Amino acid sequence: MNSPARSLIGQTIVDDGPISFETFMEIALYSEVGYYRNEDVFGIAGDYYTSPHIHPIFASICALQVEKMWKAMDQPAPFFIMEQGAGDATLAKDVLEAISILNQDLYSSLTYICVDRRKIEIDDNSHIEIVQSNQLEPFHRTGVFISNELIDSFPVKMIEIRDRKIFEIYVGINSRGSFEEILVPIAIDDYMDFLPSKIEQLNGYRGPLNTKMDDWYSNISDALNCGFVITIDYGFDREVFFSMEKSHRLLQTYYKHVDGSNPFQRIGSQDITAHVDFDTLKQSGHKYGFKECGYFSQAEWLNSMGLDKLLCKMRADGLENRNTINLISALNDISGLGGFKVLIQGKNVEHFDVRDLNSDVFWPPGLEFPQVKNVHMSNARKPETWETNFF
Ligand SMILES: C[S@@+](CC[C@H](N)C(=O)[O-])C[C@H]1O[C@@H](n2cnc3c(N)ncnc32)[C@H](O)[C@@H]1O
Repeated sequence: MNSPARSLIGQTIVDDGPISFETFMEIALYSEVGYYRNEDVFGIAGDYYTSPHIHPIFASICALQVEKMWKAMDQPAPFFIMEQGAGDATLAKDVLEAISILNQDLYSSLTYICVDRRKIEIDDNSHIEIVQSNQLEPFHRTGVFISNELIDSFPVKMIEIRDRKIFEIYVGINSRGSFEEILVPIAIDDYMDFLPSKIEQLNGYRGPLNTKMDDWYSNISDALNCGFVITIDYGFDREVFFSMEKSHRLLQTYYKHVDGSNPFQRIGSQDITAHVDFDTLKQSGHKYGFKECGYFSQAEWLNSMGLDKLLCKMRADGLENRNTINLISALNDISGLGGFKVLIQGKNVEHFDVRDLNSDVFWPPGLEFPQVKNVHMSNARKPETWETNFF
């Protein structure tokens, strides 16, 4: 069926000739008829859940991390949290609620800036500013920049390695009117920063190449003068990323909680995402003055702030229902969300190891967590036919 997004891509190719996969993904996701214009993207009625949607404990731990960083920076005021790719602002609202419970001094100095290419609708909240954009303004703020599953949603080039040569995938239209892939040779030298040193063993490899990280860090650098960048996403270190084991498995689609691998299906109705090469992130960040302060699996990071202890206590107390405990456990399950990566970088802050910072952190006893709301999976009723897909 010809969806509006499919028609727009077809017309672009008719007008301008074959387009790179990156342009295809840009139109399929972010044009005026693209996937991210759909109302229901997140949650039970949408296509996937992310960590903030599981339970507000995730946001509470993010809030703890921000509070630790704020204290380590000598409690500056005003203080900003900037979240790019804030989605439906679930994380933003819960982090603010958690900080209001945790630390009134921080709360009163805090503004949370949510930036997203989608329009974000929220009820009045004097601490939240909404910006609809694909980048941050040059705020030059002090604070914390955070993103969860942002980078995986950036349009990427797709490459294939054949006989030590690298080809970029373009999309054209064949004589039957269907989209077809066209492989265009590219100069290896132009992509040295993104590729592994040896490509001999990668004959037949296919995977995404995100070449926009320098621009991204340059933009964050203009927005954040002093503070930390917390990047949470799924992906691998370069050695694993560029391996035959991961070949053809790094570009994924999501539709109604089921994952797939064909970006040419359901154009405009399904999400398309690409795993992240974390070595590129570290490298690009470094160029713009962001030094690595910590690199963890999501499970390690959450546990460093007490999630594992909290779960043990919940199980021992038997006060929470088992379904809630199982959902929260998904956050630090290494075979699922817990296997995501958390990269923490600092700019113009005393260089330290986040592991030391977090070693004594725990949600203070006696304090409530933020309320579970309708957007959270722990509150959702699961239809019988529904397959759980967390990202
Ligand atoms: C996979 S969703 C994640 C949403 C949210 N962070 C969460 O965890 O539920 C990715 C979000 O990033 C947004 N996005 C993608 N590229 C962006 C950009 N350059 N600037 C701002 N938002 C962007 C998309 O519109 C989408 O809402």
